[in-house]
Amino acid sequence: MLLDTLIFDPSPCGFPKPRVPLLPTGLDGLALNTAQPWAPTSHFRHFARGRYALREAYRLSGIGPGSTLLAPAYHCRTMLDPALALGGNVLLYPLHTNLSPNLAALDALINQSPAPVKALLATHFFGIAQDFAALAAWCIERGITLIEDGSHAFFCEHHRPAGIGGHGEFVVSSPYKFLPSPDGGLLYARDAGRLKSLSTRAPAVVNELRGMHFAWSKAAEQRNNRAALAPAHLDAELAAIAAARHSAAIDRHELAGTSADYRPDHEGYTALRFSRMLYRHPDIDSIAQRRRDHYRQWAMATMNLPYCRPLYPELPEGCIPYMFPLIIDNPEPHFTRLKQLGVPIFRWDSSAVSGCATASDYRLHLLHLPCHQSLTGRDMDWMIAAITKVGAGETAHNYS
Ligand SMILES: Cc1ncc(COP(=O)(O)O)c(C=O)c1O
Repeated sequence: MLLDTLIFDPSPCGFPKPRVPLLPTGLDGLALNTAQPWAPTSHFRHFARGRYALREAYRLSGIGPGSTLLAPAYHCRTMLDPALALGGNVLLYPLHTNLSPNLAALDALINQSPAPVKALLATHFFGIAQDFAALAAWCIERGITLIEDGSHAFFCEHHRPAGIGGHGEFVVSSPYKFLPSPDGGLLYARDAGRLKSLSTRAPAVVNELRGMHFAWSKAAEQRNNRAALAPAHLDAELAAIAAARHSAAIDRHELAGTSADYRPDHEGYTALRFSRMLYRHPDIDSIAQRRRDHYRQWAMATMNLPYCRPLYPELPEGCIPYMFPLIIDNPEPHFTRLKQLGVPIFRWDSSAVSGCATASDYRLHLLHLPCHQSLTGRDMDWMIAAITKVGAGETAHNYS
């Protein structure tokens, strides 16, 4: 199936690499002690990324030719890729502005489906637990498998965040977003019997070595980049950006299948042994504390800025956030300037089109900013100064 997709291509802009890492690095968040799993290991399978764990969850739920997956209208393409790779249809369900599913719209959607709906993906965006009780009841009534997407939650063999993983028949997560591991995707099945027929392959030793090298070089790169972070230089840097001519990004419609981020040749491979060794040593309390502190710093710093606002100003108790979601009024020029400065930002600006107003608004207006445990005070000060200054004064901006 091909989906009407909006592709945002920033390549003409020549954005520099982020000057602060988007994900944890080094040994940050690791402890010497070995943690105990909260469920027998027969309930878990490890993969190279969450997207390949999703593939197995979709497949085991019956997604393939002649079936449909319901997925959130606000998404990154790797959430849909595995269903498309399996030959299934994808229908997007709308979300409220707080990113909770619009339950009232679901029945109409299954009536429109060209094929029976076999599975529904429900996402705990940014690590904030959503209450999926009513959604789970809706799925059970219709014989649809609920898959909880815990890719933004610190859901792993050794930690189960409050409110996450209690409703889905399957839960999928991405441990590499919380621990400094080179890869990692986790599949949890409430009924371990569903995983009995699922076998995985071990990556080659050379990939283990590449993984270790990747982890080491990321940490070294971060040390070097950090030395050049100076809030005092931001005014001059912004003035230089404003004075220069920049090519604009290309935003285009395309009928698209799987994205380049989905590699069929990576399907079925387990996470690296090196990554799985790191997963056994999480320092959960320090990860939670540091991420929550950084999130609060972001919220305080952006709450009263004129051009942006936090999507969730308050963190629920016990929540370990993945990123800090910030809504900006004017992607142009503010997103572009932040990227030109090298501020680390994720944005789901390439995604399949739906009639959901929230998804269409957030595609270009919702920024995902890092709050992970590897950030230092200096990193936070620099990023916050950049966000504050970028919106403070409008200077001339040239686009060719
Ligand atoms: C909400 C969500 N679900 C699933 C995925 C796929 O996870 P992974 O990057 O581990 O393949 C992503 C990608 O980052 C995601 O943001």
